[in-house]
This record gives sequence, C-alpha cells and structure tokens, in this order.
Amino acid sequence: MSPVSPVFFCIGLCVLKASQAQSDPFPKPSLLAQPSSLVPLGQSVTLRCHGPPNVDLYRLENLESGNYKDENILSIATMKADNAGRYRCSYQNGSLWSPPSDQLELVATGVYTRPSLLAHPSSAVLPGRDVTLQCRTQYSFDGFVLYKEGDTGPYKRPEKWYRADFPIITVTAAHSGTYRCYSYSSASPYLWSAPSEPLVLVVTEPSATPSQVPTEVPSPATEPSATPSQVPIEVPSPTTGFAHQHYYAKGNLVRICLGAMVIILLVGILVEDWHSRKKCLTHRIRAMQRPLPPLPLV
Ligand SMILES: *[C@@H]1O[C@H](CO)[C@@H](O)[C@H](O)[C@H]1NC(C)=O
Repeated sequence: MSPVSPVFFCIGLCVLKASQAQSDPFPKPSLLAQPSSLVPLGQSVTLRCHGPPNVDLYRLENLESGNYKDENILSIATMKADNAGRYRCSYQNGSLWSPPSDQLELVATGVYTRPSLLAHPSSAVLPGRDVTLQCRTQYSFDGFVLYKEGDTGPYKRPEKWYRADFPIITVTAAHSGTYRCYSYSSASPYLWSAPSEPLVLVVTEPSATPSQVPTEVPSPATEPSATPSQVPIEVPSPTTGFAHQHYYAKGNLVRICLGAMVIILLVGILVEDWHSRKKCLTHRIRAMQRPLPPLPLV
C-alpha cells in the first residue's frame, strides 16, 4: 500500500472541511417582480426581496447602473427604459453578508413596435403533426422571445435579422394555447418590443373520447404523456448527442482539475507549513472573520 494515499485522504477531508467552514451561514434571498418582470413602459412594478425577517439590513442593487437601495422593496411607479436590467439583493446581519439572490431580469416592453406572429402551415393542427410559429418584424432585430400564456419560461432564439422560427415538432394537445412573441436587439437585451397580437394554437383531437381506444389513429404521438404544466417547445437538435458527450467530457475535465488542485494544494500547504506554521494559522483565522467588502457606492 502506498504511503501517499492516507495523505491524499487527509487532504481531501481538509479541503471538504475548509469549503464547509467558508460556505455562508445565511440562506440565499429571492428577488421577485410583481406583477411581472416584463413591464410595459409607463406602468408600475414592485421588486421584493424575500429572506429571513430578523436581519440588520437589506440591499437591492441595479447591476446595470450600480445604484443600490438599502431596503427590501423597490417600487417603480413609472417604468422607464433605464429601469430595465439585472437586479439582485442580499442582506447583512452583524458583519456578514448573505449570498446574493439569483439575478432578476427586469424587461421594459413596448419600446419598439410589435412584431407579428404567424403559424405555418396553420394555427389549427392535428396531433402528431409539426407546426412552426414564426415571429416577424420589419426591423433588424437579433433576439426573439416566444411566450405561451400560463407557462413560466420563455423560449428564446437568437436569429438574424427580421424573423425567427420556433418549430414545434410532434404537436400534442398540451401545445394548444395562446402565444405571443417579442423582438429585441442584443445590444439592449432588456428593452423589448410590444408583444405581438396573441396567436391561438388549436390542436384538433380526432373525435374519440379519452375512454375509448383510439383505433383510427395508431400514431404514438396521441399518448397522453405530456403534462399540461410542462410544455417543452422541441427544437430539432442534431447536436443533442454532442451536447451529452460534451457534458461528460466536461465532467472528466472537472475531475482532473480537482485532482490537480488537490496536489497543488498539498504541495502548497506543506511548503507553507514548513515556512511559518503559526503565522499562517493566525492569518487564516483573520481572513475568515473579516466581513465581505462593502458593495460599491453610487
Ligand atoms: C441576526 O442577528 C441577530 C442578533 O445577533 C439574531 O438574533 C438573528 O437571529 C440573526 N438573524 C439571522 C437570520 O441569522
């Protein structure tokens, strides 16, 4: 048995302990926009930071301008273009800051005229068929977003210059609904057009009641497997296999890097210890007690 392996085990434990000690004791707050993070110019919106109640200070930041406010609520009475952008919040208790919330992207809509949304070949589709929703503008935009009413996430496509296709492969009843699209320029990603007129996609089921076995349509697409809450817009992707390979390759790379880091750390710690054991220890303790630097001023 190699005498090195217990050392590695110990180093691994130490790295684990160190990362646990340095992980923040505060839960991450969440930041929400009400009624929505898509705000028509001139309308009002409220950003709320949710976190624990008994803390010293909440801070809400606009990451575009660097402006911040030490409150957990930001009310914007009249949405303007320069209110759009990324926001985040955090809180402070004692001398420690919480980790920041996920970023909230506040979008001003109605900055440009509306695009049009069309369905090809038709907005009435049989289950199992394909349909393409096409968002078109008369201007050169390079960002297009499709929303389905009731769904949380948008579907984005970066396309040039005046239209984007959103193909839906193998339509099921769950794809029925009301769709809208927006266009924007990637130079100002938080300033969007007005929404298109709504497009109602109707998936016409064959006239069989759900209790009967559909003898006429042996298509596997009629399986009622898609849940209405989860409606992926499937984009034909011949690169899916590559994406997986890439993912696994990345995983290996991460493992190799971690291994290399552990070795470097081992050498570093040995040298450091050998040099001045005591000095290093006090220094490390001081670093852990030090509060995070204050956020930048306006
Ligand atoms: C913040 O600090 C106060 C006083 O030390 C403590 O009572 C409270 O529980 C702390 N809050 C959180 C969320 O840690």
